[in-house]
Amino acid sequence: MRCLTIIAFVYILRDAGAYGKTRRSEILEQETRLAVGGNTNLTEQEDAVNNCLMQAKFRECDYGFTNPQYFNFSHHYFSYMEIIKHSKVYRMIKDIPKGAALHVHDMAMLSPDYLLNVTYMDYLYVCFEQNTVKLRFSKAAPKDTCAIKWQLMKNARKHSGDIEKFDEKLRKHFTLVCDHPDETYPTIKESWDTFLGYFGTVAPMLSYRPVWEQYFYDALKAFREDNIMYVEVRSVLPDLYELDGTTYDPVVTAKAYKKSIKRFMKDYPDFLGAKIIYAPSRLVDRQQLGVYLETARRIKKEVPEIFAGFDLVGPEDQGNPLIEFVPQLEEAGKDLNYFFHAGETDWYGTLTDDNLVDAILLGAKRLGHAYALPKHPILMEEVRKRDIGLEVNVISNAVLSLVRDVRNHPLALFLAQGLPVVLSSDDPGVWEADPLSHDFYVAFVGVASRLSDLRLLKTLALNSLKYSALDGADKINAVDKFSQRWNDFIVNFNCSKY
Ligand SMILES: *[C@@H]1O[C@H](CO)[C@@H](O)[C@H](O)[C@H]1NC(C)=O
Ligand SMILES: *[C@@H]1O[C@H](CO)[C@@H](O)[C@H](O)[C@H]1NC(C)=O
Ligand SMILES: *[C@@H]1O[C@H](CO)[C@@H](O)[C@H](O)[C@H]1NC(C)=O
Ligand SMILES: *[C@@H]1O[C@H](CO)[C@@H](O)[C@H](O)[C@H]1NC(C)=O
Ligand SMILES: [Zn+2]
Repeated sequence: MRCLTIIAFVYILRDAGAYGKTRRSEILEQETRLAVGGNTNLTEQEDAVNNCLMQAKFRECDYGFTNPQYFNFSHHYFSYMEIIKHSKVYRMIKDIPKGAALHVHDMAMLSPDYLLNVTYMDYLYVCFEQNTVKLRFSKAAPKDTCAIKWQLMKNARKHSGDIEKFDEKLRKHFTLVCDHPDETYPTIKESWDTFLGYFGTVAPMLSYRPVWEQYFYDALKAFREDNIMYVEVRSVLPDLYELDGTTYDPVVTAKAYKKSIKRFMKDYPDFLGAKIIYAPSRLVDRQQLGVYLETARRIKKEVPEIFAGFDLVGPEDQGNPLIEFVPQLEEAGKDLNYFFHAGETDWYGTLTDDNLVDAILLGAKRLGHAYALPKHPILMEEVRKRDIGLEVNVISNAVLSLVRDVRNHPLALFLAQGLPVVLSSDDPGVWEADPLSHDFYVAFVGVASRLSDLRLLKTLALNSLKYSALDGADKINAVDKFSQRWNDFIVNFNCSKY
């Protein structure tokens, strides 16, 4: 902001307010250079790729510009998600190396079809209630309350009479996607209620230890296939359990992560790895937060190589604001890195909005969403000065009712002002999106400037490594591996393939 003001002032002195063609183009050029990716130079080969990409992007943007009624990005994501696969830009983005996914929640990384497959495993019990379904693996009928009765999923499916219909109905509990999103989710209340309902349904099923370990392995596989090299995953670290009812504490869950990551790296040595951010619920009191922080320290001690830091999750408007916990978090911040969700709200001037100032003053390395940041000019400067990565999740913000027309997403401002942005996908499985490609696509065509090009995509991918919790040699190695991957993509690019 300040930078722009100074530039404008210099021009006023020079041209004394006169409108000049030179001045006009200089201003526009300055702004291009200020924007994320604006200072990157492309090689000749990259230029050729860029021309192909931009031809397709212009076609999509300009069609929407002249036919605003068909501009899909101004509608609900669910109404156009199916058509995306026909987009040339999207298909190129799928193949582009995207670096890392730094903001994803573990139980929301894979599709409803994957979860439906899990329900075919032995020993899964089900309890159908009014509008919800309870799922739990067990040797014998689970002890948890059930309004009607627990039955083996296998039997329920068999006796349903119509397996296809049974599965179709069951699958609805594993996704937010629906045919009439505007009626199903008129406000943030409905979208968040359904969203939290999803976690309530899947958490007890996924916390069965063998499923948990396999789920994360398969999630990494899906992310790798989307041309992602590294993942930082947020986890509430639920207590895992065995068929006989034995349960473990969160440190065991963290160790299960280490095991899955190790196995995955052995099978896919080109992958750079994964780390966890312990992110329990923010809907707790100070005493419980103290327990969480103690757990975080134990995990850091037990599995330091995969532990990135700490965060708090849940509906930010309803949870406790960070200020409630400042003394505790300040103390714990001596040992823990913070990656707080902050400012995931439309409520200006509320305690939720204030989470941004507390997260920054508590020394957060990155901010989750930072959606409300543009309303805080001083904090914008702090973000720039402290070089805090902003983890932006456009589709999530649209689906969870913060913004309708993604052209109004604050990411546009972050990009224009050259802030340290990384793109992520939050909970892609819940809205049946790709691990990262759909978010890149919507951001690139729907949010960023019409003129933003391959330089933006390359910078966003590099940012995801730069702002990752990888340190020292690991980060250098990551950037190096990325550059190789990027060059391979450029060298092998074939425009007519798309
Ligand atoms: C890109 O090229 C321009 C003009 O030649 C130069 O001013 C700028 O410093 C270069 N940027 C980088 C990142 O090398
Ligand atoms: C938006 O989606 C419709 C189909 O619902 C499609 O016909 C149209 O071409 C799309 N618009 C753009 C700009 O892609
Ligand atoms: C579900 O299982 C079927 C049969 O084993 C398999 O073909 C399919 O790929 C699986 N789907 C997912 C999303 O894992
Ligand atoms: C590029 O792709 C097209 C269509 O798939 C193919 O016909 C052509 O041979 C490819 N060109 C090169 C140089 O590989
Ligand atoms: Zn999140």
